[in-house]
Amino acid sequence: MAMSLKAQAAAAALKEVKPGMKLGIGSGSTVNELIRLLAEMVKDGFEIIGVPASSYSQALCDELGVPLTTLDEAPVLDLVIDGADEIDPQLNLIKGGGAALLREKIIAAASGSMLVIADESKIVDTLGKFPLPVEVVPFGLEATRQMMQNSLDAEGLQGEMILRMAGEKPLVTDNGNYILDCHLQAISNPKSLAKRLEVIPGVVEHGLFIDMAVRAYVAGTDEIRVLEP
Ligand code: 5RP
Repeated sequence: MAMSLKAQAAAAALKEVKPGMKLGIGSGSTVNELIRLLAEMVKDGFEIIGVPASSYSQALCDELGVPLTTLDEAPVLDLVIDGADEIDPQLNLIKGGGAALLREKIIAAASGSMLVIADESKIVDTLGKFPLPVEVVPFGLEATRQMMQNSLDAEGLQGEMILRMAGEKPLVTDNGNYILDCHLQAISNPKSLAKRLEVIPGVVEHGLFIDMAVRAYVAGTDEIRVLEP
């Protein structure tokens, strides 16, 4: 059977993984393909140790036999491979569609370099059509929302902030927090918005990954493109 685009992107990025590496493993459906391919390599004797960014990635690695450790045991990683919800020409990203953005960012920050894997639908000129996820502490939610609104106003951005739900209740992240999805359409200055959000006490982390990715493997129907900032 032909490989899906997501699997093709994952396979291309895996060529950068060398034996003995400590590998950050992101989260999402593209990363699931990566984990499946990695599991086959491990079965064939390839030695790596992974640190997963979400409880879901951890469960899949455990199920398929990809050896794992934690950032406490391995605080410095060689490489992280992760998906993205949007990728702009500078390889700035929106992440967090799967609510794993905080751990994904901690793992990316602990890694020597970050590779992104995606199909071509994730490429955009300007970030923001995909709602920007912001992880917030449940305590003082409405106060945090107001402070975020002030930040958006200062950036000249408009749009709703919607609390992500899991059925009838707010979705709770792996870290016990909530997600506010900011429907902004176009974020003209992601760096400036990131700085404003970062100083709000109730904001734990936002889904803007700026100047973090060194390369993106983007699979299209005709070819796999390797993008650099
Ligand atoms: C999860 C993420 C994912 O990387 C992002 O949502 C992409 O997912 P997919 O590969 O399923 O499109 O940021 O928090």
